[in-house]
Amino acid sequence: MKKNFLQVPSVLDIVKPTKGGKPTNTKFKVREMLYLQQLVYQLPQKAIIVEIGSFIGKSALALAEAAEKIDGSVLCVDPFAKHTQSFCPDQLERFKENTAGWDNIYLAKSDSTKFFDYNPGVKFDMIFIDGDHSINGFITDLRNAIVHSKKIVCGHDFCAYSPWIVDVIQHLSVKFGVNYEVVSWTWKLDISKKLRKFADSELVPYLIAFIKKRGVFYNFENSWYKESGIESDNKDSVSMTDIGVMPMDDADSVDLESELPDLESE
Ligand SMILES: C[S@@+](CC[C@H](N)C(=O)[O-])C[C@H]1O[C@@H](n2cnc3c(N)ncnc32)[C@H](O)[C@@H]1O
Repeated sequence: MKKNFLQVPSVLDIVKPTKGGKPTNTKFKVREMLYLQQLVYQLPQKAIIVEIGSFIGKSALALAEAAEKIDGSVLCVDPFAKHTQSFCPDQLERFKENTAGWDNIYLAKSDSTKFFDYNPGVKFDMIFIDGDHSINGFITDLRNAIVHSKKIVCGHDFCAYSPWIVDVIQHLSVKFGVNYEVVSWTWKLDISKKLRKFADSELVPYLIAFIKKRGVFYNFENSWYKESGIESDNKDSVSMTDIGVMPMDDADSVDLESELPDLESE
């Protein structure tokens, strides 16, 4: 059943999680959390949502709170590697602390590209992109999200700090005649059959060529991602054996198939 946006009950519980943990003070705003929750309520019962990039769990909690009401799950994909958030070395510990008690949050401690490579043909109901914000990283995540999402593709940082995200979403909207929505820095792009087919094979080289042309207008000095040293080619990212889905109270067990409910292959 679709729920009314205004019926979202306890967003303050997300800012100050009731089930354990400290308040999660990141860039993600309350109205963005409410928007994500509104998207979740459009999904079927038992939906599986993938979050690419979880940091200390704020958006994951917003997703999980809404997902709980449709008996759904949130699968957080993040390598929690030092090079991805060097300013927060205890990122994984804080993520675990903040999400403690939420048994519909699962973790795949993995680079997103490896995660999707490891799961070819698997479709998820919704994919939220907020991981590697470099040009290549974002484009690769977008391609994988379009290919692996059954219903909703959305993400964060539709803003001046990552102008390639703004450009790409707007360009695809015009090129494929699909709508997009933006709430603060959170975006959602509608996916047509044509766009899905294009994404499978041609999207990445096409968008890289597009951004190469557009990039002359960007002021890279404004980008915090350049400063933070994040690159798409994460040379010391986790190995395949690090990939797993696990309940938060048992983060060392690695068994993708047995932990996730109702995965659907094409
Ligand atoms: C902006 S933070 C995410 C914030 C979080 N979504 C929130 O709003 O609470 C970006 C996260 O992406 C992760 N990340 C960086 N590269 C990644 C990759 N290749 N795959 C998955 N996650 C990645 C970082 O470790 C970091 O935790």
